[in-house]
Amino acid sequence: MLKFKHTLAVAVALSAFVTVGPVFAAGGESPHKGKSVGEEGYVWNAGGGEEDEALHLKPDLNNGKDVYEVCSACHQPEGWGLTDGTFPQLAGQHAKVIIKQLADIRALNRDNPTMYPFALPSQIGGPQSIADVAAYTAKLKMNPDPGHGDGKDIDLGKKLYADNCTKCHGADGAGDNDKFFPRIQGQHYAYLIRQYEWIKAGKRRNANPEMVQQIQKFSDRDTKAVLDYVSRLKPPADMTAPKGWKNPDFQ
Ligand code: HEC
Ligand code: HEC
Repeated sequence: MLKFKHTLAVAVALSAFVTVGPVFAAGGESPHKGKSVGEEGYVWNAGGGEEDEALHLKPDLNNGKDVYEVCSACHQPEGWGLTDGTFPQLAGQHAKVIIKQLADIRALNRDNPTMYPFALPSQIGGPQSIADVAAYTAKLKMNPDPGHGDGKDIDLGKKLYADNCTKCHGADGAGDNDKFFPRIQGQHYAYLIRQYEWIKAGKRRNANPEMVQQIQKFSDRDTKAVLDYVSRLKPPADMTAPKGWKNPDFQ
């Protein structure tokens, strides 16, 4: 019953968003606190705060499941997000990446006005809940059928990927948990495009400065090609769900 109430609360709040719009609109004043990429003195993944706390806690998967209930309203019960890229897939993402991103969003070091009100300590709890939900999503099996681009430029994408991305995201896009490098294989194309453009333009304020440098010369064609290629990189078979899988935790 509690479960149902939670989901309902998010649904009601979401419909309010659709009519009224987010509290701080994109492009307007952002109430951010920390330094942004591109600013003097910015240090990527400087640590501290909730990120450090969560990294040192032992995760409780049961509580992770309870916390995820709120998230499931947008990221979907399976953690697969939406093909149109509104909501990214979280399933299979490295726990440390989720911890960093969630802590950054809560600390207003990464703007996410849609999600922000639902991710606050008053809604889901403190650093322990961050650790718990990250462990839960890391274990969810990934979407077998993510959104892709038009498939016209895969050869170019493959070459650009090998020359510019493998160093950090790995040959197959698996990323690296210990280095906080995201898994990008099998992520929805439309989400990848949005993040990439924001990273390139300095709008995703918690971005890695070396990556920002690396992609400065990418044309629109390059961007589409490389991200279409990334969206088609297959996660390991044992991390991928069968088509049509439903998460039994939320049935
Ligand atoms: C109201 C909808 C909504 C809810 C509820 C929500 N999110 Fe999100 N979340 C989003 C959106 C939208 C984005 C993508 C924002 C962007 O494009 O930068 C996102 C992005 C993220 C990211 C970054 C993913 C990445 O690949 O970098 C993480 C991590 C995340 N959400 C975790 C959570 C967790 C954990 C919860 C539950 C506590 C949650 N979200 C609840 C809408 C939501
Ligand atoms: C120097 C290392 C490095 C290189 C090179 C690099 N990246 Fe990244 N990338 C990162 C890190 C680190 C992040 C996460 C930053 C953060 O903490 O928010 C990231 C984030 C991303 C994201 C957002 C992921 C998400 O879940 O929101 C995408 C998409 C991405 N990279 C694609 C690429 C592609 C494609 C290339 C090659 C053209 C590339 N990156 C090159 C380090 C790198």
